[in-house]
Amino acid sequence: MIHLYRVNKSYEGIPALREITFSVDKGEFVFLTGPSGAGKTTLLKILFCAERADEGQIIIQGMNTFRLGPSSIPYLRRNMGFVFQDYKLLPHKTVFENIALALKVVGTPYGEIERRALTALKKVGMLNKEHLTPPKLSGGEQQRVAVARSLVNEPQFLLADEPTGNLDPASGQEIFKLFKEINMKGTTVLIATHDWETVRTMQRRIVAMERGRIVSDSRDSQKKPSPAAAVRPGTAS
Ligand SMILES: Nc1ncnc2c1ncn2[C@@H]1O[C@H](COP(=O)(O)OP(=O)(O)O)[C@@H](O)[C@H]1O
Ligand SMILES: [Mg+2]
Repeated sequence: MIHLYRVNKSYEGIPALREITFSVDKGEFVFLTGPSGAGKTTLLKILFCAERADEGQIIIQGMNTFRLGPSSIPYLRRNMGFVFQDYKLLPHKTVFENIALALKVVGTPYGEIERRALTALKKVGMLNKEHLTPPKLSGGEQQRVAVARSLVNEPQFLLADEPTGNLDPASGQEIFKLFKEINMKGTTVLIATHDWETVRTMQRRIVAMERGRIVSDSRDSQKKPSPAAAVRPGTAS
């Protein structure tokens, strides 16, 4: 579904991504982790075509996005949902209107908007609060609404950047659980987070970044043991 090959990106001459090579298969659930400044957001932005790579190959759903013109970007994004750390909901619109807007802008007929918005709200357990505005909701509830909004166009691929960064641990766990449910229904999920504790307990693929590089990928280590995992002196039983 996604293939990156030797992708490089610098900001004002300072590398943010260095030789990034990795792929995500259809239906996978992947955590992108690493300390602040590692390059996680930059990588997601490149996948969402919000930033351009300097070098390398990027294939998303069979399209080479490295050479993609601006007119093709909305077409590509139609298959993607994006969830941000700060929810990005419109504070003066109701929960229902926030979600309906995402459908209105792509020209969905009203009956269809209503059906889809209510289905998405049901999925995230927010159907009973559709008439409230975001400031009346807890952070966890606001993020649920943002997840619902990301789902209304039925994307094949869901990207999230620190989706639990503003939440208390319990609400964060709920949001991760929600992503897991969404993934089980077939959506491919890629979540950038530095919440290492949660990542460890979720038992999903973990791609770790440091200083712009991928330094480990749990999928690779399952396929072939790395030399570092071989018996070291003094560790053999
Ligand atoms: N728009 C920008 N202009 C200049 N430098 C940037 C910009 N965005 C990110 N960077 C730099 O790129 C590096 C990676 O940042 P980022 O992708 O945000 O990391 P992370 O999401 O892992 O915290 C950092 O050194 C950051 O300062
Ligand atoms: Mg970031």
